[in-house]
Amino acid sequence: MTDAGSRDWPRWPDRPARPRFGYGADYNPEQWPRRVWEEDLRLMRRAGVNIVTLGVFSWSRLRPDPHTWDFGWLDEIMDRLHENGVAVDLATATASPPAWLTTAHPEILPVTRTGETVWPGARQHWRPTSPVFRRHALEVTTALAERYGRHPALAAWHVSNELGCHNVHDYSEDAATAFRAWLRERYTTLDGLNHAWATDFWSQRYTDWGQVLPPRLAASHVNPTQQLDFARFSSDALRDHLRAESAILRRLTPEIPITTNFMVMGHVSEMNYADWAHEVDFVSNDHYVRPEPGGADELSFCANLTGGLARGRPWYLMEHSTSAVNWRSVNPPKNPGEMARDSLLHVAHGADAVCFFQWRQSAAGAEKYHSAMVPHTGAQSRVFREVTELGRVLAEDLAEVAGSRRLPARAAIVFDWESRWAVSRDSLPSSLLDVHREALDWYTAFLDAGVRVDVLPTDADWETYDLVVAPLLHVLPEATARRLTGYVEGGGHLVTTYFSGIVDENDHVHLGGYPGPLRDLLGLRIEEFAPLPEGVSVGLDDGSSGTVWSDRITVTSAETEVLARYADGPSAGGAALTRRALPGGGGAAYVSTRLDEAHRVALLGRLLAEAGIDGELPEELRGRVELTVRADDGAEYRFLTNRTDEPVELRGLLGTPLTGVTTSAEGSRVLAPRGITAWRLPTA
Ligand code: GAL
Repeated sequence: MTDAGSRDWPRWPDRPARPRFGYGADYNPEQWPRRVWEEDLRLMRRAGVNIVTLGVFSWSRLRPDPHTWDFGWLDEIMDRLHENGVAVDLATATASPPAWLTTAHPEILPVTRTGETVWPGARQHWRPTSPVFRRHALEVTTALAERYGRHPALAAWHVSNELGCHNVHDYSEDAATAFRAWLRERYTTLDGLNHAWATDFWSQRYTDWGQVLPPRLAASHVNPTQQLDFARFSSDALRDHLRAESAILRRLTPEIPITTNFMVMGHVSEMNYADWAHEVDFVSNDHYVRPEPGGADELSFCANLTGGLARGRPWYLMEHSTSAVNWRSVNPPKNPGEMARDSLLHVAHGADAVCFFQWRQSAAGAEKYHSAMVPHTGAQSRVFREVTELGRVLAEDLAEVAGSRRLPARAAIVFDWESRWAVSRDSLPSSLLDVHREALDWYTAFLDAGVRVDVLPTDADWETYDLVVAPLLHVLPEATARRLTGYVEGGGHLVTTYFSGIVDENDHVHLGGYPGPLRDLLGLRIEEFAPLPEGVSVGLDDGSSGTVWSDRITVTSAETEVLARYADGPSAGGAALTRRALPGGGGAAYVSTRLDEAHRVALLGRLLAEAGIDGELPEELRGRVELTVRADDGAEYRFLTNRTDEPVELRGLLGTPLTGVTTSAEGSRVLAPRGITAWRLPTA
């Protein structure tokens, strides 16, 4: 249970006796006249809003010029929010520097790979490595901490906003200087750097640190290790900014917890959140569901991974949308019920706060067509009615669930940021590799099989799981390889896929046949990769098919069973799917292609059986319904999400529904198409 007095959750000003769900949004009162504020407060009370994120883009209002501070409006709204029972997650306001600063100091602006300046006019036009930017950002942070650190509404600090959303890659001179310092820290000597970057290739040897550059536009493929290190450095540079603001906040307000909103969602890959998660007091995430088939599965995957980053502790859904966004090429609204389903699916995976971008839909500006809790139409609207109902569900129906933790599954998927970076750059056997997609494919297979799985970062304790899937684990340092081997030798069941275990942390190939450090474990050797062109598939002799990749495999161990061979394509006749059974009971399976969905589920079923894992739902619900479980000291809560467009009759379930099911005329309990329900299990 979240301890109300600890730093790992917003510090509720009214100190409730037991945990409760946070409910609210980004609130931007500076965009509105005072009379709207009063309506805001009234509607917030009506909707059950109890926390807002304030001031995210308010730097230019707080400090209109270098010599003037204007806190009056913020003092007033902080007080009014507090009087109305709304707590504040106060932003440090540093995400969008004001015009006076960029005019006086254009050297804080980011520079692209091709040398163009990123000008003001939007937001996040700052270099993470600019000492000038840093100084000014820390001045604002300090001023806010000093002024509001004791304010009774203050529940948490919100550092910057979506760090890296638009400025993760900066190739400026500041970036070059900081990159060199980062490299010196990593390699100590130029010899170390030359070795790691293999600079004898294409005559790239460095004889002075000043020669080393970020991977700017070059004549051909830039050194891949330089690219990988720049990805690491870019993530670290933003993390350092997070650390710098946090250090001030911790010094001035040691009792106020700190967070920043991550973007664990499909298209965002450049921030290593596995690493950043150690920097915050509680994990927050922003997620925007894809308006397409499979969108809810992707949401579930991301929410699950966010729970993994939070190490199973409750986390904070900082932003999602009540309806349409404004940044896809076409932006459909959500259908009735969809907002609640999306919200509660995050809750099912451990979110203890459900918040939106934003409270009131802007009348002007680049996001005026982005939905909000109060739409342009006002409170007389479907969206606001649903918002109010969701507030009620969280405060009443699900009140007892707040503070519970997700119950670990028996299977895990390991998600590796560095592999994601390494396989998405150039000069590879294929440009069709995608770690997020492959991991999501396996996640979907678990959902189809009706078996719970936890998505975990590589540095988590996945050894405690009975089955571990490590998809596209391309960058494999010896230490991780030893962990995997020890896991399987100790009785664990590992599944890994194509292009895994190929390089070390310096992006140097493990020699002697792929995948170097996993060869013996898998009992096979790959001599050649045989990637498949876009749109081309190969058949396997069990009737399945694969896309993206195939390998030319030699089986080297008598313990390795070939589960399927290639029937055609560049690896025809060779092994495609294998499993080595170890004498100690563990197993190591290898999947050398992107298997079609139905056969991936069938294969997973077999591997789950080997690991002794069965679904926890009645047979007829498996695949149609997603199950997640949260548990408290005394209770267990099961969330069931209908993955189909049909109503699902919930038969054979123990427990009491808390919300989300209807009872049919015949007395059976029915879960609406795409609906979600939460049940309390009877305690023993
Ligand atoms: C996020 C951002 C918000 C808003 C939202 C729109 O990236 O933090 O400020 O722009 O997206 O979806």
